[in-house]
Amino acid sequence: MSINWIYFSDTKTSPGEIKTLLEKDHSQLTATFQLERLHALLGENNQSVLFLKAGSLFNVYELSQEISALYPHAYIILIVQEGMEDLKKAMQMGASDTLRTTFNEEELSEAILHARKFMRHRAKMDHNPINLPKAEGKVFAISSPKGGVGKTSLTINLAVSFAKLGKKVAIIDGNLQFGDVAMYCNLKPKRTIYEWVKESYGRDHYPISHYMTSSEYDVSILAAPQRPEFFEGISEHHIKSAIEEIKKQFDIILIDMSTYLSDIHLRCLDLADEILLLTTNELSVMRLTQLYLETIETINLKNKVKLILNRYQKGQSLEVKKIEEIFGLNVYHILPDQSTVVLAAINAGYPFILSHSRSHIGKSVLKLSEALFVKNNDEIAVVKKDKRWNLLRK
Ligand SMILES: Nc1ncnc2c1ncn2[C@@H]1O[C@H](COP(=O)(O)OP(=O)(O)OP(=O)(O)O)[C@@H](O)[C@H]1O
Ligand SMILES: [Mg+2]
Repeated sequence: MSINWIYFSDTKTSPGEIKTLLEKDHSQLTATFQLERLHALLGENNQSVLFLKAGSLFNVYELSQEISALYPHAYIILIVQEGMEDLKKAMQMGASDTLRTTFNEEELSEAILHARKFMRHRAKMDHNPINLPKAEGKVFAISSPKGGVGKTSLTINLAVSFAKLGKKVAIIDGNLQFGDVAMYCNLKPKRTIYEWVKESYGRDHYPISHYMTSSEYDVSILAAPQRPEFFEGISEHHIKSAIEEIKKQFDIILIDMSTYLSDIHLRCLDLADEILLLTTNELSVMRLTQLYLETIETINLKNKVKLILNRYQKGQSLEVKKIEEIFGLNVYHILPDQSTVVLAAINAGYPFILSHSRSHIGKSVLKLSEALFVKNNDEIAVVKKDKRWNLLRK
């Protein structure tokens, strides 16, 4: 694999030390001060590492964003003024690393070494895609057309519950603009679906697992982009690939759906094995749930729906029988209203299924997971004895 080392500066400063160090390693660096030439160089092959220095004609971060959108394969190292370095911002703008203009030899060597490692690893992935297990996971879309009915809470706790049953579980945050699955788990993902889409562009077997965040309770999360505007780069095609890739590696995939039905979300419903439609017995929620069901029926997906009644309090508002009559559908499972437990878990960023496993809501979610997936009751009994989960219970 031969790396295309490129240097661009709009201040017309020469590459100096960068060129010298690379030449010591028998690598050639092509330097240019012209943007047209830079585009030509980046377009030549997809193994480019670019040292990008800008400050007079261009804003270095904006230029990085433009280049990374046009050449997603490029590994960009930003050279920024002292005091202006911001790795997080650099990464958001598509760069992979930063150097201060006053870098020393050690810092430069380290940046070059990282770039080499990354390029080597990526080339290997292109030529030897990982042989993934063939058995495919089961996909559940946790849906509701009304906000705040408990989709994210159920998704996370159900996921942990499946993991307790010994399954390898993944969550896809389907709220691509304001997803909060990671936040509910007290995680700050460095990589999300956005980075996967950006960096895996044009590759069939790019390992999506590298872009998933592991939680301490054995559930992996494909988090929503860090910034709402990044969702624009994600298409229905990307979501389809993501689900298909994740299905190869996990037993259970839960998608925390958004309240609206875009092409992306329709694709999720289409690829889901089951749609867990959450409702409460409030009339305003039920009206929208009914509309959602009618919409789903027109695209022949109603047969996948399992109706889950959340925040149920006996004697309050409509009773279950009446709800079933209205929807023309059986209520598959009832989750009790227990705001003290659910809210405390959200605030702590820790699933109630672990912190309050014996609460009504904890037991109810566990029961739901058992009903949904495990056909073999012996399997549940064996896994339930698994001691490692006792360690996780608070
Ligand atoms: N079974 C329950 N008992 C009591 N409160 C609950 C229950 N389920 C959810 N809640 C409360 O409902 C609120 C919304 O929950 P959650 O964020 O999971 O909903 P959501 O459907 O994901 O919302 P959004 O549409 O904004 O993504 C939270 O404050 C949570 O505490
Ligand atoms: Mg939510």
